Amino acid sequence: MSDPLVLVGMSAREAAERDRLHRLAAGYGASVAFLQVGDPSLSRELTRLADLGAPRIELVGVSLGRLAPATSWLRRIAGHWWRERGSGAPEVAVATAMLRNDAEAPGALDLVREVTRPIHGGEAPLTSAAWEQVPAHRHQVLVCRGPRCTARGADASAEALGHALRAHALGDDDVLVTQTACQFPCNHAPVMSVQPDDVWYGAVDADAARRIAHEHLVDGVPVADHRLPRNRSQEDPS
Ligand code: FES
Repeated sequence: MSDPLVLVGMSAREAAERDRLHRLAAGYGASVAFLQVGDPSLSRELTRLADLGAPRIELVGVSLGRLAPATSWLRRIAGHWWRERGSGAPEVAVATAMLRNDAEAPGALDLVREVTRPIHGGEAPLTSAAWEQVPAHRHQVLVCRGPRCTARGADASAEALGHALRAHALGDDDVLVTQTACQFPCNHAPVMSVQPDDVWYGAVDADAARRIAHEHLVDGVPVADHRLPRNRSQEDPS
C-alpha cells in the first residue's frame, strides 16, 4: 500500500465539523482521525493502518478555529502509540505545521506537508506530575458543543470565553472550561452552564460569553438576561 496520510482534528471544533474534514480528506485520498472528542481516535486509526501493513504513516494536524492544542500534542499521542506498538511499528511522520481554516485553498495541504518530523519514541509521555491533582478551580463552565449549539455558533462563543478568561488572568485553577456533548435545552443554543452554581445560560453568543466571564466568573453576579430557568425534580419526601 502507498503511504497513508491522516488528517487529525485537534480539538472539539474539528469533531463538530467532521463532514468538512472528511470532504477535505477525500480530496487527498486521506483518512480522518481525532485527537479528542471525535471518532476514530488517532490511536485507533494508527492501529488500523499499521494492521493493514502501512510502512509509513503521515499525520497532519487540522485546526479550523483559534483554540487548538499545539502540534506537540499530536507528537505526544503518536509517540505513546508508537512505543506501545513496539518493534515492527511503521514509521510515523508528523507535519510540523497545521492545516488551518484556509484548508481548502489550493496548495494549502502541500505547504503544510513540506516539513515533517518522524516520531522516535522519545516524545513526552501521557502522564506528568503536574496532572496528578484534581484542579483547584472555583467554577467549571460546561460549554455545549453538541450539534445544535455548534451550528448556532458555539465555536465562536467558546473562543470568546477563553480569550475573556485569559484577559482576566483566570486559569484552569480558577475556572475550568470543559466542552461537552448536548446538554439538552437545545432550543436555547448555544448553551453554557456554570457549576457548582447550577446556573444555565442560553443564546450565548460571543458577547454573552464575555459577559459571563466578567460579570459571573469575576464579579460573582450571574448574567440575568441570558439565564435559563432551572426546574429541579422534586425531592423524594420519604
Ligand atoms: S446541542 Fe447544545 S444543548 Fe443540545
